Amino acid sequence: MSAEREPIGVIGTGYVGLVTAVGFAELGSEVWCVDVDAAKIERLGRGEVPIYEPGLEELMGRNRDRLHFSTDLSPALENARLLFVAVGTPPTHSGDADLSAVHAVVESMPAPDGHALVMKSTVPCGTGASIKRIFSDCGKSGYSYVSCPEFLKEGSAVSDFLHPDRVVVGGEGDWAQDAVVGLYEPFGAPLVSTDVASAEMIKLAANAFLATKISFINEIANVCEEVGADVVEVARGMGLDDRIGPKFLQAGIGYGGSCFTKDVSALKLLAGNSGYHFQLLNAVIEVNELQKRRVVSKLQRHLGALAGRRVALLGLAFKPNTDDMRGASSLVLAARLQAEGAHVRAFDPIAAEQARGLMPQLDYADSALDAIAAANAVILVTEWPEFVELQWDEVARKMRGNLVIDGRNALDGEALRAAGLLYEGIGRR
Ligand SMILES: NC(=O)c1ccc[n+]([C@@H]2O[C@H](COP(=O)([O-])OP(=O)(O)OC[C@H]3O[C@@H](n4cnc5c(N)ncnc54)[C@H](O)[C@@H]3O)[C@@H](O)[C@H]2O)c1
Repeated sequence: MSAEREPIGVIGTGYVGLVTAVGFAELGSEVWCVDVDAAKIERLGRGEVPIYEPGLEELMGRNRDRLHFSTDLSPALENARLLFVAVGTPPTHSGDADLSAVHAVVESMPAPDGHALVMKSTVPCGTGASIKRIFSDCGKSGYSYVSCPEFLKEGSAVSDFLHPDRVVVGGEGDWAQDAVVGLYEPFGAPLVSTDVASAEMIKLAANAFLATKISFINEIANVCEEVGADVVEVARGMGLDDRIGPKFLQAGIGYGGSCFTKDVSALKLLAGNSGYHFQLLNAVIEVNELQKRRVVSKLQRHLGALAGRRVALLGLAFKPNTDDMRGASSLVLAARLQAEGAHVRAFDPIAAEQARGLMPQLDYADSALDAIAAANAVILVTEWPEFVELQWDEVARKMRGNLVIDGRNALDGEALRAAGLLYEGIGRR
């Protein structure tokens, strides 16, 4: 790659910021990273990757010379015109997006200037316009603003970043928008070059649509259970229609993660605050919440009251290949089981440490087999490959009961039944 690629700054070195930094370094840019978390910056400076993301450590190692880490904004301002912003935008108590970290970044920009903020964080539609107003009101009109939403998925973030299915760049038709488009050119992905508000809306609408697809198939699964159909067959038959497509048609115990939950809520409230009642999203959210809890009724149907029963949770992360516990279905499920008086013992190969911080009251096992020992029931919560490959004869021998609930429809029901286990999936015949 050319050494003359545009240098960039990246503010916020979490899942999105770090992958963005490492990805652009791989393409040849010098990247100046900034984070308020001094411990994180120190680890990154030593070459340690503070998150679990397949392929990231190797890529970072390969590009160490081009990656610079600091808690101070000055090196980024001195060396780069484009400052990518990838700070968190978690939900507030009201469900709106908390933009305090974004505003802290805006306030920290010196005046006057010829830099551009390139917004990677997911923000409500209208944020770019409001930031431009803030800049103008405090004599910083020299700043440009570009909305460049990120679509990577945790667990395959590096590959998603390097092979995007599209790149969205919203701007005002100035040098900054052109420069961001230029940075993404080598990816060869379809480009949506648009205005700031539309770019902001694309991100929220895309996530809300994906969440809708999941809640839809979960409702179909629940109906399948009533009428004796199999949702896996139904989803296969639906997904072969290229107007529908097979992705995001896997029924389960609800979507989780940091993005869907907060972005669906942020879009619903953005609509509400703007005077429009987005009815469909209310249902999407409610279906998802109920779906996490339905597993508890499945257990009760087989075991009766759960007080004193031992339940093993296989997996805690919101999906495989990540250590991220934000919004994970396991948080609700574990809390509900404990509220019913069950003893919950859990194992996750990567996310256990993060989970301990959020659920210190849970009993943590050292392995899947350790978790299921003497369990009355096992629930597959996260479909890590090692759970799919378990020896079910051994599982059956170690359990006290025989009920296995496959919360992700990822297990081979026939193999489990052959081992003498009582297998129940989500929406399966
Ligand atoms: N995680 C995903 O899969 C994903 C995908 C697409 C978009 N997004 C969006 O990207 C944004 C970042 O998400 P994330 O998952 O990377 O968050 P994260 O919590 O992993 O990382 C955010 C980082 O920003 C840092 N930070 C906070 N305030 C700062 C400040 N003032 N200056 C410098 N650094 C600061 C934090 O210390 C942290 O390291 C969010 O808006 C999210 O919605 C996330």
